[in-house]
Amino acid sequence: MGGVDVDPAWPSIALTVNGRRHEVSVPADRRLAGLLRDDLGLTGTKLGCEVGVCGTCTVLVDGLPTSSCLTLAVQVDGASVLTVEGLAAFPELAELGRAFVEEGGFQCGFCTSGQLVAIAGLMLEQRLSSMTSEAVTEHLHGNLCRCTGYYGIQRAIDRARR
Ligand code: FES
Ligand code: FES
Repeated sequence: MGGVDVDPAWPSIALTVNGRRHEVSVPADRRLAGLLRDDLGLTGTKLGCEVGVCGTCTVLVDGLPTSSCLTLAVQVDGASVLTVEGLAAFPELAELGRAFVEEGGFQCGFCTSGQLVAIAGLMLEQRLSSMTSEAVTEHLHGNLCRCTGYYGIQRAIDRARR
């Protein structure tokens, strides 16, 4: 909470982020992305369009891919949030990061955290390996890559699926 002014009138919420519980007071209009980046210092979650279109801000809220730019912090009171920083805690996701590096799954990297989190959600639910390529592509239709590096991303996902 370094350097953040707190108003006693703000609602208090409690949430778990990457396995760690936090109790914070936030203005009613604070977005989840702002809470993660500015209050908790988890800057791996990127802000692109800020209107729910590009997917760079994707985090898992109780296991579901969620645009943190559109989600109010007060809406995640009591929830469990997983950000890109938390993925390293899951050994079953290790191949995903390796695949992105070795298959060239990123160029500038701005979209990468959102892509990784969205795919990690499928892997943690043990759904990825049984999905068709087309179904995975459909699942990721909300994760845009401005560098248009989709071939590398697709190769990395195919490798992670195996
Ligand atoms: S920044 Fe949230 S969807 Fe684009
Ligand atoms: S790698 Fe640059 S936006 Fe996707």
